[in-house]
Amino acid sequence: MKKVNVVVWVKACSVEFLSSGTIKQFYIRDCEVLLMNINHKFFCLDARCTHAGAPLEEGQLDGEVLTCPWHGSQFQVTDGKVIKGPAEKRLKTYPVNVKDDSVFIEL
Ligand code: FES
Repeated sequence: MKKVNVVVWVKACSVEFLSSGTIKQFYIRDCEVLLMNINHKFFCLDARCTHAGAPLEEGQLDGEVLTCPWHGSQFQVTDGKVIKGPAEKRLKTYPVNVKDDSVFIEL
């Protein structure tokens, strides 16, 4: 039997809940993801650092660069790429859509 991946848009929160410059972690459909608002653009990435699993919600956001709180790896928020190690693997990103004052993530 052929396996079918089902893609679902899930409501994460209201737009008001996530003010510009903030990061929040969500548990949705067994996924730990980070949702962030950068100048009213929303981005979603895996919530754990690819180096050793640090909780990136505790990281530092500077523009579109997220710095891991444990060993300082830096990731580009827009595409999850590693800017600075020790992490070598990029963060997975998820499409985000805003509709009717709510933020939805595609999982
Ligand atoms: S756990 Fe993030 S850089 Fe080590």
